Amino acid sequence: MRVLLFTGKGGVGKTTIAAATAVHAARSGVKTLVASADAAHSLADCLDRPLGPEPVELEPGLSAVHVDARARGERSWRAVQEYLLGVLEALGVDPLVAEELTVLPGAEEVLALLEIRDLVDRADHDLVVVDCAPSAETLRLLALPEALNRYLELSLPVERRVRRAMAAGARAVRGADLVPRPRDHVVEAAERLHAELSGVREAIAGPLTSVRLVLTPEALVIAEARRTLTALALYGYTVDGVVANRLVPADGGDGWRAGWARAQAERLAEVEPSFAPARLLRAEYAAGEPVGVEALADLAEHVYGAAGTGAAQMLLAPPDAAARLRVDRDGDEFVLVLPLPQARRDELSLARVGDDLCLQVASHRRSLALPSALRRCVVVGARLRDGELAVRFRPDPALWRAP
Ligand SMILES: Nc1ncnc2c1ncn2[C@@H]1O[C@H](COP(=O)(O)OP(=O)(O)O)[C@@H](O)[C@H]1O
Ligand SMILES: [Mg+2]
Repeated sequence: MRVLLFTGKGGVGKTTIAAATAVHAARSGVKTLVASADAAHSLADCLDRPLGPEPVELEPGLSAVHVDARARGERSWRAVQEYLLGVLEALGVDPLVAEELTVLPGAEEVLALLEIRDLVDRADHDLVVVDCAPSAETLRLLALPEALNRYLELSLPVERRVRRAMAAGARAVRGADLVPRPRDHVVEAAERLHAELSGVREAIAGPLTSVRLVLTPEALVIAEARRTLTALALYGYTVDGVVANRLVPADGGDGWRAGWARAQAERLAEVEPSFAPARLLRAEYAAGEPVGVEALADLAEHVYGAAGTGAAQMLLAPPDAAARLRVDRDGDEFVLVLPLPQARRDELSLARVGDDLCLQVASHRRSLALPSALRRCVVVGARLRDGELAVRFRPDPALWRAP
């Protein structure tokens, strides 16, 4: 099943474009579900239909739902959080700081992810369109499954290795005895969450998922979209489309309108290459608010062309695999290649920490668990060129000889 996540700066038209895309797909014969994962939940207003936590069919082939994270309850997460709080306090971390640390991955966001995963798993649609929160929150959300899994692996005795590492860490601080042993129900909750989160990443970062960025042709909005593009690539998500929304139509009209249309067209032509290989799609500023299925269908027709087979194929085609992390072989060495469009060398840092490669671009951090072949290698170089980061690994003879 194809999954499209729509995000962008606040107010640019994410909900409108997501809903219009869903309407268009459905009318092109693709069984579509549009889901709102933004707590603001304006999807119902946009479609002009009441929505709830269960999908409602709006017309044949088109259903919509408001993901309600709280409906799921905080069952797993709260228990884990309490345990972590105890661990951090025993380690001598100030209770206030500890509270902040454990609160960081918000329970609500995690639960929203689980809901989306479940919707994707139900598999009774060909396409799931997700209206996400504004970019900054969405990035946090999309980075969560991986980050949180690392966090759980390191904090809870899911495996023996982790237990050992934890005991060593605790001794270094104050003595292992002070670290509270997790009670059974906590371990159970953590393991369940761990398993669920692995499923989430599979569902939302799989080869059939891509992100569409919505922007308006303004300098600040475009600048944020470009940063979002890099950050998404860092977390391993593919952006395969950029929708420029609220473009002043050039036809007819007075000089004022023609002036705006020209300025917007110039600005877009200028930035279009920087979004490659993502396609740039254009959505017109409608004469009124595009509310309701018919108005959305009209808007979509300007973006994607007439509803029909061509449109269906375009919407369902998997995103370009070239835009994903890969490991190439070069003689004895390996090169890990991560597309990082728009990243600048001066904002990029890289460190090998145990079995992880820690990457940071501006304020975004990713701890990449290295595949086993690369764990037995040493990093011998890294290069950022043409929007791609290439990290070279050479087998470490000492490690390869080990039994
Ligand atoms: N192409 C468009 N033409 C006219 N109005 C639009 C267009 N796209 C969005 N709008 C309007 O702009 C406002 C914000 O859009 P919305 O989709 O809610 O943005 P977001 O989800 O990014 O916050 C809404 O009132 C919506 O109807
Ligand atoms: Mg919205």
